[in-house]
Amino acid sequence: MTYQIAIDGPAGAGKSTIAKAVAKKMGYIYVDTGAMYRAMALYLLRRGISAAEPEKISAASHDADITIVYKEGLQQVLLNGENVTGLLRTEEVGNMASASSVNKDVRLKLVELQRALAERENVVMDGRDIGTYVLPKANVKVYLTASSACRAKRRYDELAAKGEACDLAAIEADIIERDKRDMEREFAPLRQAEDAVYVDSSDMTIDQVIQTITDLIH
Ligand code: C5P
Repeated sequence: MTYQIAIDGPAGAGKSTIAKAVAKKMGYIYVDTGAMYRAMALYLLRRGISAAEPEKISAASHDADITIVYKEGLQQVLLNGENVTGLLRTEEVGNMASASSVNKDVRLKLVELQRALAERENVVMDGRDIGTYVLPKANVKVYLTASSACRAKRRYDELAAKGEACDLAAIEADIIERDKRDMEREFAPLRQAEDAVYVDSSDMTIDQVIQTITDLIH
């Protein structure tokens, strides 16, 4: 049996930073499921398919071959053989991922890949439905969140540090809209699993969150 740690929560809660650090500390692999939804979104964008075309999204999801490999411990996403890892963190891809991830065919395909990875290796996996749907028997489940104002401010600081112009109110509105879509979709919505530990990181440092989760594992 592999050891499975599931970290779920809304957009911008710091899941990937925390999950990556916990995985490193434990010597497990880090599985970023958001990157898989983003790779699928990139495929749809390249095919010229819009979020308002569910049948086309379902059909296209069968043609997109998404594979995960690890290079120097970091997850790489291959889309039909092409390493697209560096192309996934844009606003355009993020918006399309948020919209197309409501599609059940897209989800079923990616969940299969996620479960296969967790069967092979010890994992820290982050996403929206890991503790509730993908790995319901995970050894440790965390629901990591923070206030929308706090998540927006962190995102704002990140963009500002890169010298990108941005508007705090618009970022918060976008975060709230994405949360709503994730929480209200019919299939595998975002919610806290009954056996997940709720961690609100609004007033915590990154190190404190990492320590809290490491303590839970031990
Ligand atoms: O976490 P990240 O922003 O990279 O995820 C991109 C999008 O993929 C999210 O907005 C969310 O709607 C979707 N997602 C999901 N289920 C997951 C991971 C991500 O629906 N397990």
